[in-house]
Amino acid sequence: MHTPITLITGAAKGLGFETARLLAQRGHHVLLGARDVERGEAAASELRAYGHVKFIPLDVTSVASIQAAEQRIQQEHGCLDVLINNAAILLDHYQAAAETTEEQLLQSLQTNVIGVHAMIRAFAALLKKSDKARVVNVSSGAGQLSDMLGSVWAPAYQISKTALNAVTRIWATEFQSDGIPVNSVCPGWCRTEMGGDGATRSPEEGAAGIVWLADEAARDSTGRFFRDREEISW
Ligand SMILES: NC(=O)c1ccc[n+]([C@@H]2O[C@H](COP(=O)([O-])OP(=O)(O)OC[C@H]3O[C@@H](n4cnc5c(N)ncnc54)[C@H](OP(=O)(O)O)[C@@H]3O)[C@@H](O)[C@H]2O)c1
Repeated sequence: MHTPITLITGAAKGLGFETARLLAQRGHHVLLGARDVERGEAAASELRAYGHVKFIPLDVTSVASIQAAEQRIQQEHGCLDVLINNAAILLDHYQAAAETTEEQLLQSLQTNVIGVHAMIRAFAALLKKSDKARVVNVSSGAGQLSDMLGSVWAPAYQISKTALNAVTRIWATEFQSDGIPVNSVCPGWCRTEMGGDGATRSPEEGAAGIVWLADEAARDSTGRFFRDREEISW
């Protein structure tokens, strides 16, 4: 049986790290993407207790870094089965819209939206070489337009997650004829550096929904937004 080759961005800590651990345990060959070499190597080495995990240097805001990762994966594996776009930044926590600067918005879009589009575009050919390819975009309920009026706590981050959900729908359409599902998932509020200590969920609880979309969800389910394996509104 083919071992799934799974690339996770921003996986040296938080939900990316936990997702890498859980998928390694399930037998995936995990490519742990991280922009910091030392922390990426250390995380991959820690996770080797759970399965096959290899560090891949990857900064999603750098075209050169994305291209180098793509070339390496092409040479070493020849295809990519699962792409998990997890890396993100939250710069304007608890700011009002009037305090959020254009620079914060630009940086948020660069990582959380353009970084994801660039990753999918760069890896499209390798994904198409797999007959079981999937793309999982780690989004957030913070980007739900249906819930945004009266619930603003990080404007640039929220705008970026709404836009990320559009990236999901756009690529789900692009990949429809290739049979590659592309979905968004909200992990819920989790105790990571981004979520903080007061969050209600453990990283493992948050990662469970990401793992489900990456490994188990019906292949004909695409262009949708999930939390806890249930579809949620945009
Ligand atoms: N935690 C929550 O409550 C929560 C709720 C809803 C959605 N989410 C989403 O879940 C995902 C993971 O969040 P988290 O809570 O695990 O956050 P986190 O602990 O802050 O981890 C974010 C990861 O993204 C990486 N990253 C940031 N910019 C990058 C770049 N340019 N290139 C590559 N990696 C980059 C970080 O790397 P460095 O260590 O190098 O900075 C880090 O590994 C994010 O998409 C987030 O929006 C989280």
